[in-house]
This record gives sequence, C-alpha cells and structure tokens, in this order.
Amino acid sequence: MAEAILEVRGLTRRFGDFTAVSDLSFEIRPGEIFGFLGPNGAGKSTTIRMLCGVLAPSAGEARALGRDLFTDADRLRARMGYMSQKSSLLTDLTVAENLRFFGGLYGLEGEGLQSEVAFRLHEMQVWDQRDLLVSALSTGERQRVALAAATLHRPEILFLDEPTSGVDPLRRRLFWEAMDELVAEGMSILVTTHNLAEADQCDRLAFILGGKLMAYGRPRTLKEDLGRQVIELRAERFRELQASAREIPGVLSAELLGRSVRVSLSAGGDPAALLAALRQAGHAFEALPSELPSLEDLFVELVQRSRTA
Ligand SMILES: Nc1ncnc2c1ncn2[C@@H]1O[C@H](COP(=O)(O)OP(=O)(O)OP(=O)(O)O)[C@@H](O)[C@H]1O
Ligand SMILES: [Mg+2]
Repeated sequence: MAEAILEVRGLTRRFGDFTAVSDLSFEIRPGEIFGFLGPNGAGKSTTIRMLCGVLAPSAGEARALGRDLFTDADRLRARMGYMSQKSSLLTDLTVAENLRFFGGLYGLEGEGLQSEVAFRLHEMQVWDQRDLLVSALSTGERQRVALAAATLHRPEILFLDEPTSGVDPLRRRLFWEAMDELVAEGMSILVTTHNLAEADQCDRLAFILGGKLMAYGRPRTLKEDLGRQVIELRAERFRELQASAREIPGVLSAELLGRSVRVSLSAGGDPAALLAALRQAGHAFEALPSELPSLEDLFVELVQRSRTA
C-alpha cells in the first residue's frame, strides 16, 4: 500500500474547558479523495484549520509529505492548498483579479502567473466570467473560482471545507468533476460535506462526532460493517405495515419514507421470512430488493449510539 501523504495522530484542540477535537487519528493516501463527515459542530473545520497551520493544536502530531506538519509548517505551506468554509474571495475584485492576487500571495508572477490563471479559469469553467466582479457570480461559480484560487500554486494536498454547500446538484457535479481533474494532476484531497451522496463518492471517509472519530474507511465497507440489510416496502396502508414490521423478530427499525416503509433487518435476518410474516398478517405491499444500508443509516446510527453512550 502506498505510504500516507498525510498522517494525523492524536490530534486534539481545546478551547478553554471545551474539547472541540479529541485524539483524532487518520491518514490520507496519495491520490485519494478523503471525505470528512459529521454534524454541525463536530470539529471538522477545527481539524482542517489545524492541518493548514491556521490554528495551533493543543496536542497531537501530524506528518505531511514526509515532514512534520507543525514544526515544518513554513516549508509545507507552499505544497498545500486550503479553501475555507467562508469564501475568502474579494468580492469587489473581478474573478481574474482575485486569481492574480492569490497567485501573487503564493509567489507566482509574470508569465507563470498569467498562464496558471488562464489554465485554472478554463479548467474550472469560469473563463467567460473572468472579468465579472465576484459579487456578481452565482454560488456555484464562486465556489469554482475559490477552488481555482486554492490550486494556482499546484499544491499536493488540498483541504476543501464544505466547498459545495449551497450549490445546486448540477453545479455540484461540475465541482466534483473539477476535483477529479485535480486528482488526475496528482493532488490528494480532504473534503468536508454534509451531502451524503457526495460522501458516497469519496475513496474513504472519516465520520466525526463531538470531536471524536466514530467511523473510518471505504463507504462500502462502512455500510457493510453496520451489519444489516435494508428493504423498502411500498404499501397503501403504510402506517399499519410499519407497526406490524416493528413487531417482527430481527427487525431493527422500520421508518416511513414517503409512502414506503424502510425496514432494517439484522445481518443474519431472513428477508423472505419477514415478507412472509407480513403477508400472513394480511398486509398488501410491494417489496424492493434488499440492499446495503445507506450512509444516512450509518449517520443516524452513529448519532443514536453516541446519545445512548
Ligand atoms: N475559536 C473558537 N473558540 C471557541 N470554540 C470554538 C472555536 N472554534 C470552534 N469552536 C467550537 O468547536 C466546535 C467545533 O467547531 P467546528 O467549526 O470545527 O465544527 P464543524 O464540524 O466544522 O461544524 P459545521 O458543520 O457547522 O461547519 C464547535 O462547538 C465550535 O463552537
Ligand atoms: Mg465547519
């Protein structure tokens, strides 16, 4: 297995008595899109800010690109890119002016700067907007300009903090295509999102809750590890069906989803036996094929588990 490009051990950040990030350990591999998931206040941005050198950690270690991230930060900074949760673009400058400004901060100048700016404008599909003020852009355009600004210096590790929040599904796809191109250029990406469809596209995920790492791995593995199967039942009398399903042994939960009932069955449970029992009880329904739980199931399960703990 390729060596980690970023390795985090025991990362912790306290604000007074409050621990926002608690003993976090994970690694990012070369060429990976690594997703950071967790509810509001979980500690995602705080973690990213420490890794970008914006915020000092209270404890813990991190190595990036073979160097100590905290003691060698100055040398590493030029090899990392950061797009913060709140856009750092200057709204009263044009798109091209912004990129030239940020390129200048990275030490680019002259021909090199011009060609990097032009390259990113095309790549992010905002070339036609280059002379517009940032304040005149749509959210999707603005986020792609911010991505261009964060990558002008061709960083090797890229931190993207909720880059697609407020972006419509079509522009969201455009943004992810741009991320794929950056990976093809050789970047590794850590991205936070609240969108579980996006999380599903990540190579691996870290799920954070209350500053702690709750789950970590490939999306598919995480779903399999939940140890259950999910069956969706469509019925006219879905409320009655839900009530009956909850009584059947092996059923972990039965939730309404529109006019369907989404039944979670333990891994060893027998879907056929479930359906037979419901038919015997007089229910009429249509059953979709059983499937793996979704990341949403995982999300809900982890939050519930932490509440009862
Ligand atoms: N400078 C600070 N001083 C005190 N508390 C802070 C500070 N920065 C963050 N926190 C707290 O740390 C916790 C984690 O915040 P953080 O912004 O990292 O969460 P997040 O996972 O990024 O959430 P969101 O999904 O809303 O962006 C929150 O409870 C927040 O209030
Ligand atoms: Mg955040």
